[in-house]
Order: sequence, then structure tokens, then C-alpha cells
Amino acid sequence: MQRLEGKVALITGGASGIGECTARLFHAHGAKLVIADIQDDLGKSISDQLGGPSECLYMHCDVTSEPDVEQAVDAAVSAFGTLDIMYNNAGRIDVPKPITETSQNDFERVVSTNLTGAFLGTKHAARVMVPRARGGCIVSTASVCAVVGGTGTHAYTASKHALLGLMKSAAFELGRHGIRVNLVSPYAVATPLAKGFGNLSDEEFDGFAMGCGNLKGVALKAEDVARAVLYLASDDAKYVSGHNLLVDGGFSVVNPSLSVVEQK
Ligand SMILES: NC(=O)c1ccc[n+]([C@@H]2O[C@H](COP(=O)([O-])OP(=O)(O)OC[C@H]3O[C@@H](n4cnc5c(N)ncnc54)[C@H](O)[C@@H]3O)[C@@H](O)[C@H]2O)c1
Repeated sequence: MQRLEGKVALITGGASGIGECTARLFHAHGAKLVIADIQDDLGKSISDQLGGPSECLYMHCDVTSEPDVEQAVDAAVSAFGTLDIMYNNAGRIDVPKPITETSQNDFERVVSTNLTGAFLGTKHAARVMVPRARGGCIVSTASVCAVVGGTGTHAYTASKHALLGLMKSAAFELGRHGIRVNLVSPYAVATPLAKGFGNLSDEEFDGFAMGCGNLKGVALKAEDVARAVLYLASDDAKYVSGHNLLVDGGFSVVNPSLSVVEQK
């Protein structure tokens, strides 16, 4: 069954990792797509693989630039007639450092991509969704770092926590227009962003992540996150708004440090 038949979606950060995987899944479920990213060669090649601009349009879009985000949203409307699903997924992380060594530039670069980018995506999606009076769906990628400290850098953790506030605030205002606003919050997935500061293969990364994770014997894959986004974007979630869907195997709600049961 195609769960997004007739829908139009825009995915930021859609040229790689979770965004790319979600683009492929959305397309398989019948959506027309705009992939918005700064990695033009990758983005164009995914567009070609998914049938070219009449099915999946690639737009160069730096989510920290309001004109870029505005143009990407307008491109979705002019290419496909409307925008039903906005997926604010583009993200970056800085090199882990003590707070005393974290520069203002490092901090602001992460916040401007992860938070301001999602704000601009939400704003411009609302600009076209509200007047058409047919509802809509906005999803942003947060992280387990949106709900616990100590698992990401200061800037990354702060930016992802702030996405929760943005999501709740937008869910309030846009609810009256029938627009649902949610987050998806993954644990660790072997993508260029997550592997950026180590020299680990995907298998080594998965082994490390499974060792630190709560749910043993299973590695989180980009497909698992994409399926959660598909749920939030589809009519299966028609009454789900203001929700942070954690895809973390329980990582963020347990604290095993005082466990008295032997861990095997
Ligand atoms: N991989 C993980 O373990 C993990 C865990 C939790 C949350 N996330 C979040 O998932 C999202 C996707 O990351 P990923 O892991 O798939 O990494 P990724 O590196 O594979 O993809 C990130 C994409 O965002 C794009 N991007 C970065 N800055 C941009 C900008 N200014 N404008 C437009 N595009 C930009 C990149 O070019 C890239 O294509 C991010 O928001 C990340 O914070 C990832």
C-alpha cells in the first residue's frame, strides 16, 4: 500500500543518511519530492535515481539562509502544486570539546543549522500550508540529545533540546489550521554526521552504538528512522501532533548506572 499517494514532501538534508533514506521510502510510497541540501552532486544523483525532476526535484538550499528555504518551498509548490509534508532534517555537529574551548562560532554554526534551519522550514511550510486550508504535516529530526545531556556536544545538545520547544510552540499555533507538528528523535545511526569524528567502519560504529545502547543485539539503521518519519507523515498519524517520537530502543528513559542485576 502506498501511504503517501498524492502527497508532496520537502526533505532538507535529503542528500545523505536519514534524509536520503526517507526520500527513497517516501518515493516508494507515492510521494512527489523536493530534496533540499548543500551537497549538490549527491542530491542530483538521488533525484536522477528517483525519476528526475518530475518525480523528485533537487534544490540547492542552505537551511541557514531564509531566501534558500523560501525558494525550496516555492519550488515544491510550483513543481507539484502544493506542499503536504515538510521534513526539517538537515543537521550538523561540531567537534566534541570542553565548554571552555568551544568557540562562539562553533556553537552558532550548529544552532543555526539544527534550530534556525528547522525554524525557517517550519515558517515557510506554514506560509504555504495555512492558506490552502488542507492541513499538513511538519516533522523535524531531533535526537536523543533533545532529552538527555552527555551524549552530544554542548551546541548539538542545546540545539536539539530547543527543537522540542519550537515543535511544541508550532504545534500549538498551527493546530488550529489542522497542521500537525512533530519530532523524530533517533539514537545513533552510522551516517557521515555520526561517524564524522572517528575512523570507524559502519560495522564498528554499530558495534560501539549497540554496546552503549539499551536494546541489545540490534543496530539502529537509517531505514528504521525513515519508517518512523513515514508514520508521522502519513494519515496513520492523523491525530498525532506535538509528539517527540523517540527511536532509541529505550536509551533515553533508562539509567543503568545503579543496576544491581548482572548485565550479560
Ligand atoms: N546519525 C545519527 O546518529 C543521528 C542521531 C540523532 C539525530 N540525527 C539527526 O539526523 C539528521 C540527519 O543527519 P544524518 O545522521 O542523516 O547525517 P548526514 O550527514 O548523513 O546527513 C545530514 C545532511 O544534512 C545536510 N546539511 C548539513 N548542513 C546543511 C545546511 N546548512 N543546509 C542544508 N543541508 C545541510 C548535509 O549535507 C547532509 O546531506 C540531523 O539532523 C542529525 O542531527 C542523527
